[in-house]
Order: sequence, then C-alpha cells, then structure tokens
Amino acid sequence: MNIKNSAFLITGGSAGIGKATAKMLADKRGRVAITGRDKSKLEKVANEIGAFPIHADAAKEEDVNKTYELFLKEFGKLDCLINNAGIGGGWGEITELDMNAFHDVYAVNVFGAAMMGSKAAQIFKKQNYGNIVNIASTAALKGYANGTVYASSKFALRGMTQCWQADLRKYNVRVILINPSEVTTAFGSSERVEREEVSNKLRSEEIAHTILSTLEMDSRGFIPEVTVWATNPF
Ligand SMILES: NC(=O)c1ccc[n+]([C@@H]2O[C@H](COP(=O)([O-])OP(=O)(O)OC[C@H]3O[C@@H](n4cnc5c(N)ncnc54)[C@H](OP(=O)(O)O)[C@@H]3O)[C@@H](O)[C@H]2O)c1
Repeated sequence: MNIKNSAFLITGGSAGIGKATAKMLADKRGRVAITGRDKSKLEKVANEIGAFPIHADAAKEEDVNKTYELFLKEFGKLDCLINNAGIGGGWGEITELDMNAFHDVYAVNVFGAAMMGSKAAQIFKKQNYGNIVNIASTAALKGYANGTVYASSKFALRGMTQCWQADLRKYNVRVILINPSEVTTAFGSSERVEREEVSNKLRSEEIAHTILSTLEMDSRGFIPEVTVWATNPF
C-alpha cells in the first residue's frame, strides 16, 4: 500500500510504540488518528506529530463507536487499523490470581482489540480492501512464570488474528500480527514514564519500522506475522 494519503487509525497512539508508528506514518504523509485515555497527553502528542486526536478508551464500546464516527467524519475512509492499545497487570504466580486485573487486561488487550477489529472489518469487507495490524508480544508465543494474565491475553490476540485472517483474506484484507520483545517504553510503569533508551534493547522505532515495512509491501503480498527481537539483549 502507499502510505501517502492513506488513512490510519492507531489505538493508544499517545506514547511508546503507537506514538512512534504514528509519527513515522505522518512523516511519510499518511493521514493518522491516534486514540488514548489521557486527553491532555493525547492532544499534546497529536499536535507534536501532526495526528488527529480521538479521546477514547478502546475497552469501552461507546468509545469504540465514537472513535469510528469521529474518524470517518474527519478522513472519510479507513485504509488501516493498528490495534496497539494494550496494558499489563495481574503479574504473579497462578496461586495469586487477581481476577480484577484479569478482567481489566482482557477488557483492553482482547475485547477492545476485537471491538475495534470488528468495526474495521465491516468497512473493509464492503470496500474489498484493508489492513489490520495487531500488536501482540513475544508473550503471545510462549508462557512464562508470573505471566498468566498478560501472556494469555496476547495468546488470545494471536488466536483472533488467525481467525480474522481466515475470515477476511477473501476480501483482500491483510491482518498482520507483530510480536515485539521487550521495548523501552512506559509500558508497565505506574507513573507512565518512558524508560531510558538502552543501546542493546529495542526502541519503539524498531517496531514502527517493522509495521511500516509490512504495510508498504504491495497489497498483493501479505506478511501474516513478524516477531522482533533485540539482536543481543544481554
Ligand atoms: N513495551 C514492551 O516491552 C512491549 C513488548 C511487547 C508488546 N508490547 C505491546 O505493545 C503495545 C504498546 O505498548 P507500549 O510499550 O507502547 O506501551 P505504553 O508506552 O504504555 O503506551 C500505551 C499507549 O496505549 C494507550 N492506552 C492504554 N490503554 C488504552 C485504552 N484502553 N484505550 C486507548 N488507549 C490506551 C496509552 O495512553 P493512555 O494511558 O493515556 O490511554 C498509550 O498511548 C501494547 O499492546 C503492549 O502490550 C509492548
């Protein structure tokens, strides 16, 4: 696809991977909207990178509906949804299961992504063209100690991606899964502060670059899944 003049909707675009992706797309003259829950942070970042801010929580159905209304009013079309909004939580061994955290994490990482994806798919099916990028994690590939809540939510996102690929491929819709390993963002920080850049760990830019690379390929080609590691994180 051509990035220039295409319309992109990125959930969770006010920080980290979503912000870097929005900036890279906007720099290539893509038309980009970003969502987020913290309104002032969202508006500041949107202004900084030349994106359209939509104050919305991906976990709330009414906000998902509002997101699409505002997006289509502003851009008139959708070429690509990037399901990036995601949270961690509920870390601990299975003996310490926290059901409130379980529900909170699934509300964003699984149900939010599904609601956003369903609406995009309705548009794409009608226009017989479209792109969905789901941001999962290496946690979607292998479980680990203390990861029941988060890892299983990303396994679910990976599973949904494969279902959407099967549902939508006949409508020329590419559904792409990206699995970043550790990226030095504010992810997991209760103060929401970005981590210091570390020379041997991934930055949001590497993930943004991966997303753009999968999208920029001519639409006759389709990369179903990419995993991104730091070359030597030790
Ligand atoms: N960082 C890593 O090591 C890593 C590794 C693998 C995968 N990932 C995945 O990559 C994605 C992005 O993570 P990141 O590291 O960039 O995180 P981040 O720095 O914490 O940024 C997350 C972004 O999503 C927004 N957001 C969170 N919940 C939201 C909701 N319910 N509705 C709308 N926006 C929401 C946040 O803004 P507000 O808080 O203002 O809403 C923020 O803009 C997530 O899906 C994460 O699971 C991250």
